[in-house]
Amino acid sequence: MKVTKICCIGAGYVGGPTMAMIAYKCPHITVNVVDIDEKRIAAWNSDQLPVYEPGLDEVVNACRGKNLHFSTRVRENIRAADVVFVSVGTPTKTYGAGAGRAADLCYVESAARMIAEEAEGPTIVVEKSTIPVRTAEAMRTILESNSQSGMFQVLSNPEFLAEGTAVQDMENPDRILIGGDQTHEGLAAIACLVDVYANWVPREKILTTNTWSSELSKLVANAFLAQRISSINSISALCEKTGANVEEVARAIGCDSRIGSKFLKSSVGFGGSCFQKDILNLVYLCEHFGLPDVAKYWNEVIRMNDWQKSRFSQNIVHTLFNTVSGKKIGVLGFAFKKDTNDTRESAAIYVVRDLLMENARVSLYDPKVRRETILQDLAYVGVPEHLLASHLHFASDAVTALDQAHAMVVLTEWDEFRHLDFASIYQRMVKPAFAFDGRNVLPAVKMRELGFQLYCIGQGKSPGG
Ligand SMILES: NC(=O)c1ccc[n+]([C@@H]2O[C@H](COP(=O)([O-])OP(=O)(O)OC[C@H]3O[C@@H](n4cnc5c(N)ncnc54)[C@H](O)[C@@H]3O)[C@@H](O)[C@H]2O)c1
Repeated sequence: MKVTKICCIGAGYVGGPTMAMIAYKCPHITVNVVDIDEKRIAAWNSDQLPVYEPGLDEVVNACRGKNLHFSTRVRENIRAADVVFVSVGTPTKTYGAGAGRAADLCYVESAARMIAEEAEGPTIVVEKSTIPVRTAEAMRTILESNSQSGMFQVLSNPEFLAEGTAVQDMENPDRILIGGDQTHEGLAAIACLVDVYANWVPREKILTTNTWSSELSKLVANAFLAQRISSINSISALCEKTGANVEEVARAIGCDSRIGSKFLKSSVGFGGSCFQKDILNLVYLCEHFGLPDVAKYWNEVIRMNDWQKSRFSQNIVHTLFNTVSGKKIGVLGFAFKKDTNDTRESAAIYVVRDLLMENARVSLYDPKVRRETILQDLAYVGVPEHLLASHLHFASDAVTALDQAHAMVVLTEWDEFRHLDFASIYQRMVKPAFAFDGRNVLPAVKMRELGFQLYCIGQGKSPGG
């Protein structure tokens, strides 16, 4: 079968960009991205896309209205498709069995039920969402027991893009992973999807596996990436105690080709919608399959991350003479990393919460995140409404956020924070002017010369320094 019509259920950070790239690279395929969220679809059809990603506007503009369409007509577009991608959210469950760890599969199940009701001919259903291993089995059961046609193949095709670099990651992926049944029909379905990606990805980079290996590989990839960050963050604390410098240690160990240099940047902690939820999911799976020691091992990656975040906020309070009550703290950055407007699980949520709970007056600036998102995030982690109203202020730029502030706190590594006018900021801050760099992006030597009391993660006092 040659694929000519794709439908993607879920127009989020994954569904929107990945489908835009398929449409861009495959002008002969019509791609319909559908979502039940009307506001989100309206944004995809406007000049203000709901997802900020460098280069994404150009890709969308090149094919929207031609072979790329965004709409809320979910059922109609499922009916017309040869291939249906499922790219809905799989957040951590907040209720019932497995709460706080297991993935909530209610959106995946509702998508599967809709596909079963609407699909007319033979349909390939592709899991793009990150899901627990063996979810394809549950999907197949739902599809086959609720459909008249019953001709489905379920493939696993996890997405490895990183927010902030999604366009280049999709255009030039390290690999594409496709898992499916190792039967005649399963292998034929895998071949159809391989052909779609082969329009721009070299075939040797398209890996095909059995379904369970593909599903599990996504969780394991995120667990390994997050583990590297927690490992270097644990060492950052030791550096601060001993006078070593974590940046130097990372460089020294990263030169070893067995270790490699990527993902060794120490920081206030990892965030994003995926790392924590996927590790929790892995932990839950290990427990479910009777492997408590393996579960405990991976859970420590999250515990270390939580510790790093609270260590950072406690250090601010401690350094500011054990109280930040009533003091203005200028916070730069709220997104979980630069070049995205996504704040899910951002370390900033927890640090700003801690500061507000200590009665600090937080003045916050982020170049891309909307105010409503920040307010929602902070309310969700328990900051009372009256504190948000009285103690949180939004600044239109970094300099305003820092005017008359007792401390500068950098929580996202936006490039613009490297090049501020630190001399005039220093003049306008309360003295001693403290700065806490949660991303190690500030020009440390220059700032110290200007008089800042600067704290950088993982940098103890050097010998003679
Ligand atoms: N964000 C990332 O960087 C990233 C990277 C790789 C994989 N993933 C995985 O991809 C999946 C999607 O993540 P995301 O960040 O795009 O989530 P998201 O929350 O941004 O988007 C999910 C969308 O699905 C829609 N939806 C839910 N149920 C629906 C239904 N029945 N019909 C139509 N639309 C429905 C929601 O309205 C929402 O817009 C998750 O499983 C995630 O783990 C995310």
